[in-house]
Amino acid sequence: MTSQAAATIDRSVSVRLLDLRRTFDGGVEALAGITLDVAPGQFAAILGPSGCGKSTLLRLVAGLDRPTCGTVELHPPLDRRRFAYVFQDAHLLPWRNVLRNVALPLELAGIAQRQRQAAAVDALEQVGLAEVLRRYPAQLSGGMKMRVSLARALVTRPKLLLLDEPFAALDEITRQKLDQQLRDLWLAHRMTVLFVTHSTAEATFLADRAVVLSRRPARVVADLPIDLPQRRDALLRASPQFAAATKTIYQALERGGA
Ligand SMILES: Nc1ncnc2c1ncn2[C@@H]1O[C@H](COP(=O)(O)OP(=O)(O)OP(=O)(O)O)[C@@H](O)[C@H]1O
Ligand SMILES: [Mg+2]
Repeated sequence: MTSQAAATIDRSVSVRLLDLRRTFDGGVEALAGITLDVAPGQFAAILGPSGCGKSTLLRLVAGLDRPTCGTVELHPPLDRRRFAYVFQDAHLLPWRNVLRNVALPLELAGIAQRQRQAAAVDALEQVGLAEVLRRYPAQLSGGMKMRVSLARALVTRPKLLLLDEPFAALDEITRQKLDQQLRDLWLAHRMTVLFVTHSTAEATFLADRAVVLSRRPARVVADLPIDLPQRRDALLRASPQFAAATKTIYQALERGGA
C-alpha cells in the first residue's frame, strides 16, 4: 500500500455492528442479531431477499432509527456531517438547479457561498456533470439525477457512504456506467461504503466483500470476500472469475431463502 493510500484510509471510519436487532411496533421482527465488522475504507455490498431488513440495517447505521437491542459503533466516532446516504430515488429539490441541489448539505452546514459553490462544482466534475450545473432536475435523465444525488453525497467528503439500491431503477447500461463511476470514485477517496443491492453482478463489480442476509428476520448467511482486481472495467464482467463470484453470492442468497 502506498503511504498516500494509507493516509486516505486513515481518514476513513470502521463500522462495528454487535448483535443488532430491530423489532417494529406491531411485532415485525426485521433484524435478528446482526454482527458485522466493516474495516475503514472497505467497500461492502449487502444483499438479501426483498423485505428482509436491508434498509432497516442501513437506517440503524445512519442513526435514523434506533435498534431494539445491540449496538452500532463507528470508529472514530463520526460527526453526522461526515457520512452520506444515497437512496434509490434521487430526492432532488425540483426548484433548485443542479448546482444548488449539490451545494445544499454545505449550505445546511453553514459553509460560505463561494466555498460551497466551489465544492459543488468539484463534486459535479467527479461524476461527469460539469456541463449541466444550471439545469433543473426535470431537465435531467434518470441516470443524470442519480449522478447529481451521488455528487450531493460526495460534496461533504464523507468518510462513510451508505447507498440503498441507488441504481436499481435505471436501465442496465446506465447502471453499469454508474457502477464503474462509483468504483473509480471509491478508489480515489477510499471512504467506507455499505451498498445495498439485489444484483449479484453489481455487488461483484463494486464490492470487496458481499454480506448476504437471510429472509426476515435477517441474519448473516454468508460473508464472502470478492477477490477481483482493484481496478475494474466492463471487460471484467465477461471473465470466468466474475461469473464464479456472482454464482457464489447467488448460492448464498438461495441458502438464505431468497
Ligand atoms: N417503520 C416500520 N414499521 C413497521 N415495519 C417496518 C418499518 N420499516 C420496515 N418495516 C418492515 O420491516 C421489514 C424489513 O423492511 P426493510 O425495508 O428493511 O426491508 P428491505 O430488505 O430493505 O426490503 P427491499 O429489498 O424490498 O427494499 C419489512 O417487513 C417491512 O415491512
Ligand atoms: Mg430496502
